[in-house]
Amino acid sequence: MELLGIDIGGSGIKAAIVDASTGELLSERKRIPTPKPATPNAVSDTVNEIIESLNWSGPVGVSFPTIVKNGKALHYGNLDKQWKNTQIDNLFKNRCNQDFYVVNDADAAAMAEMKFGAGKNKNGLVAIITLGTGIGSGVFFNGKLLSNFELGQIHGKKGDIMESFAAESARKREDLSYKEWGKRVSYFLSHLENIIHPDLFIIGGGISKKMEKFEKHLDIKTPITAAKLLNNAGIVGAAMFAHESID
Ligand code: BGC
Repeated sequence: MELLGIDIGGSGIKAAIVDASTGELLSERKRIPTPKPATPNAVSDTVNEIIESLNWSGPVGVSFPTIVKNGKALHYGNLDKQWKNTQIDNLFKNRCNQDFYVVNDADAAAMAEMKFGAGKNKNGLVAIITLGTGIGSGVFFNGKLLSNFELGQIHGKKGDIMESFAAESARKREDLSYKEWGKRVSYFLSHLENIIHPDLFIIGGGISKKMEKFEKHLDIKTPITAAKLLNNAGIVGAAMFAHESID
């Protein structure tokens, strides 16, 4: 089934028409910078612009960067504070006149990786960790998604959440070397090992392309691999989520 997948991130909003059963992109991939401030109205306008530019009419899957339950944002994540408690699917429907199905971004990326990427045919506990503006986590157990895991919200040594010291944005903000940052990621992942005992870690987000730069600094026991779908995981997962919701 052809669906439009939109991936809303802290820095860019990406979209493509996707064949949800094969994960293939059927259109060009659009990317528009996330409006600043990323208010519900501003983001709705961008979503509408994308739909019009792809000439799309039909259901839309959206991957959204905070906890999402039944189409509602339970937090604002790294977007504007106004998002908290917004019924995202209704907001976009009112602006764009299409049906929307909204899922947490890391859950979307994990759905795509498990079906078409590095998690294919993997059983046990698989934790897909996305390192970007924030830290996202999509956790699968024996092929089933355990939605809205927020592993980046765990507190670290100094009381800060892990996201604020181990996300990719922390590396850029504090101008850390890959070694310094890799040690932080290692601290985070080894902490997770002690809590959830995963069978496999999959690292997603744009940084997964550069995994060789920090992998050697990871002192962990669990097998770890880079995501395969790279920048398209959120788009594909969003379309898959819409597909599953419609079925
Ligand atoms: C949010 C997560 C999200 C992650 C990546 C975090 O700030 O709490 O829900 O998956 O950022 O966007």
